[in-house]
Amino acid sequence: MTDVCQLFENNRRWSETIDAQDPLFFDGLAQIQAPEFLWIGCSDSRVPANEIIGLKPGEVFVHRNVANVVAHGDLNCLAAVQYAVDVLKVRDVLVVGHYGCGGVQAALANLRLGLVDNWLRHIHDVKQKHWDILAPIANGPSQIDRLCELNAIEQARNLCQTTVIQDAWTRGQQLTVHSWIYGLTDGIIHDLGYSVHSPDLMDAEYEKAIARIGQAI
Ligand code: CO
Repeated sequence: MTDVCQLFENNRRWSETIDAQDPLFFDGLAQIQAPEFLWIGCSDSRVPANEIIGLKPGEVFVHRNVANVVAHGDLNCLAAVQYAVDVLKVRDVLVVGHYGCGGVQAALANLRLGLVDNWLRHIHDVKQKHWDILAPIANGPSQIDRLCELNAIEQARNLCQTTVIQDAWTRGQQLTVHSWIYGLTDGIIHDLGYSVHSPDLMDAEYEKAIARIGQAI
């Protein structure tokens, strides 16, 4: 088991390595934050945003929660999105689910884990909405993975519906919302085909993306 003291040691070594590679790195980073991407992903410790997409600190603004949920009343998520879009002016928002998500598994299996069950109601909603797609699949990894995909699309659409994204589009800001899924077993990200850069496309692209998942089964 790693002791917390080890983390300080790791940190010093990391800082020295970066400094040796690029002596101006921390000076530049401290002066300005100008990421082009906002990542909304799961809190799962196996899904570290920067590493997966090969970006350094300063290049991606990150919001993570259990099962990558974008809930309309979640001030934490909305504040991160608003700051990223209005202040940092990110160009792409990536809503990234992952296969084998524990939150999605818990919702599918109706597990009782405690307070988090209330948060996972959002996943239950997705499950109930798309039960016609999920019901014919046997219980197991395939059903879990389809719900992981459906959830990433649903949360990306929720994001498109927020006032933050709608207002950005209305004032002509260049902004695309994407829905992706990450594979824990191979480290590969797949595009779920829901990429929206204007309110006109929001619903039509959603119907197509959901239909593709239904057809793939
Ligand atoms: Co997860």
